[in-house]
Amino acid sequence: MAHADNLDMALLHDHVDIDQKVASGNYKWDLRSPEFIPAFVAEHDLGPFPAMQARLHEVVELGGFGYPSTSAFTRMAEAFSGWSSRRHGWAPDPALIVPNTSVVQGVWSCIEAFTEPSAAVVLTPPIYFPFNNIGATTGRRTVDWPLLRGEDGWHYDMNFLTHLLATDPDIQILLLCHPHNPTGRVLTVDELTEIVKLATEHDVLIISDEIHADFTYPGARHVPLATLPGAADCTVTVTSGIKTFAIGGLRTSVTSFANPALFDQYRRIPENLLGSSSRLGFEAATIGWEQGDHWVDQLVDLFDRHRHHLASRLADQLPELNFHLPQSTFLAWLDLSAYGPGDRPGRWLRGQCGIDCKDGPLFGQGGTDHARMTFGTSTVMLDEIIDRLVAGLDGGKVS
Ligand SMILES: Cc1ncc(COP(=O)(O)O)c(C=O)c1O
Repeated sequence: MAHADNLDMALLHDHVDIDQKVASGNYKWDLRSPEFIPAFVAEHDLGPFPAMQARLHEVVELGGFGYPSTSAFTRMAEAFSGWSSRRHGWAPDPALIVPNTSVVQGVWSCIEAFTEPSAAVVLTPPIYFPFNNIGATTGRRTVDWPLLRGEDGWHYDMNFLTHLLATDPDIQILLLCHPHNPTGRVLTVDELTEIVKLATEHDVLIISDEIHADFTYPGARHVPLATLPGAADCTVTVTSGIKTFAIGGLRTSVTSFANPALFDQYRRIPENLLGSSSRLGFEAATIGWEQGDHWVDQLVDLFDRHRHHLASRLADQLPELNFHLPQSTFLAWLDLSAYGPGDRPGRWLRGQCGIDCKDGPLFGQGGTDHARMTFGTSTVMLDEIIDRLVAGLDGGKVS
């Protein structure tokens, strides 16, 4: 391939072609767009990464639709390890990585592999809403370790975790969302160290969902949990490239271990519970993790500017709307309590402003009066979203 092509393959275009998005048949941009701008799903609009799309074209041309080869998986695991090492300073052993269909499947299969039916699982609400189904779908009891909101944003209450672990002997798993969806909070090294210490003391396994790690902005740093002293023996890391490269439909994720005994225990559950990655997902993730650095640097830089732009326009034009600058993710967790948005704040926002957002109450404790809004889009689209918010909410405050 010519050098100029290579450069073009790494260039990010700050542009969303709505017609093309709608025609693509993706869940986010369906036929209601752009009447309602879709900002409800945690998927950004800047994909696809061109080198990935080119590789998928090749595979389609070759008719590569059979089961993936073992070497395809090995290459993806090596690509992930290389990416994680370059981006976050952790090089997991490719031999201790298991492919799954999705991160959610990775989480559920860990619960199956590492807990008894009587176990309790700690969640950190307000939390990525599917995790609130763990109780109903696995029979395990869930226990909330809620994030608290202070003047300067969301906080983890370490004393409360200490109390929970000391008083509830059934707790066998702590499910971390690191970085946290929906608040965008990034755990500090001190907090992570304390969590590992407590987990070790109480024989608790930590499932660390690090799917948003690549979007961690200046001022914060993503530290993979598994890199902390003592963490290898109590950590499973679940992640994928689907947020970074907007490839949720390709169904591929990875579950990584830093301790061979935990890996062996995980592999003992029935194979079908682990799920499996799709052939095209392997190919796409491999190319992204091998070649995506420059493209992702531009993407993170763009979303860093977006979060500041959003915060500054909201502070100027909608001071009643409470919003804390996220340290990570391309998600804004909007506090609409000043407007009285009712039980379905996302639905209310859609009617009021024409922006489709996710209802906060789905996220559990701390979700009342909130809506989650994606700012992972073009600058033009983000301004259109903010314009609509301002037009729909200005003057809408309840007295
Ligand atoms: C924290 C978190 N985990 C998991 C997922 C879903 O990943 P998957 O589709 O691979 O299950 C998301 C998607 O929004 C997420 O935000």
